[in-house]
Amino acid sequence: MQIINGKAIAQEVKDGLCRKIETLRQQGKRIPKLSVVLIGTHAASATYVRNKERACAAIGMESDTIRLPETITQEELLAQIEQLNEDPMVDGILVQLPLPRQIDERKVLNAIDPGKDVDGFHPVNIGRLLIGEPASVPCTPKGIIRMLEAIGLDDLSGRHAIVIGRSNIVGKPIALLLLAKHATVTIAHSRTADLSALCREADIVIAAVGVPRLVKADWIKEDAVVIDVGINRDENGKLCGDVDFDDVKNVAQALSPVPGGVGPMTIAMLLSNTLAAYEEHEG
Ligand code: GUN
Repeated sequence: MQIINGKAIAQEVKDGLCRKIETLRQQGKRIPKLSVVLIGTHAASATYVRNKERACAAIGMESDTIRLPETITQEELLAQIEQLNEDPMVDGILVQLPLPRQIDERKVLNAIDPGKDVDGFHPVNIGRLLIGEPASVPCTPKGIIRMLEAIGLDDLSGRHAIVIGRSNIVGKPIALLLLAKHATVTIAHSRTADLSALCREADIVIAAVGVPRLVKADWIKEDAVVIDVGINRDENGKLCGDVDFDDVKNVAQALSPVPGGVGPMTIAMLLSNTLAAYEEHEG
């Protein structure tokens, strides 16, 4: 069984980005910049945002975090986004989710310039992804595809992939990306009947449901590839994925761990999307 080392693959991606930024610096060019908007004091969000700041610094990318109060109004937030849209030094805008209750998430995401939408959450980018045009692709799904490529899975013709979970952030976009690589894709979710039997048919399993250790060895076809997108706490407070790692490792051909799997890839893809947005802006 192969453990898919997301941390190492992410490091390779970041090393490549770091070299590109170093070249820009040597040429005296403007340096790409990511602006993150963090609202309120959500603990997990604060941790994610800190990790993003550190990741930018580590590859020499500019970043700033705009911290706004929990009580901010929709209008104030939209005005802030407009300012970032118009700032020629800003290449990527990321509004950390979740947002406070008084804010309409869709209105906020729709307000981001699609050319600066490094999360790939704007309807224009979602639409482009759907019809197979160049788009800013959501970071976690893009990272999953890079992990599959890293273990030699590029053309997925003839393979059956199952995506467990149908979120806008992971489930739906990864299904589209797998389809674009010619996989036969099933999207399963909480209303799916006989999930374990369906899962056993799959050559590639993407678990993105948020249920601790849901996927067991007897759900997995021998030699399937399993990607675990879950970040959960079990009953003892221990970090775990949606896949029962110790069980599934006996059956799968390759399996991504939690932590050290998909998580590091997500941040690497955010940096990659920001550099791509920069290249687009600089023409
Ligand atoms: N909150 C949790 N995951 C994400 C993400 O990928 N992007 C943003 N903007 N917020 C998040």
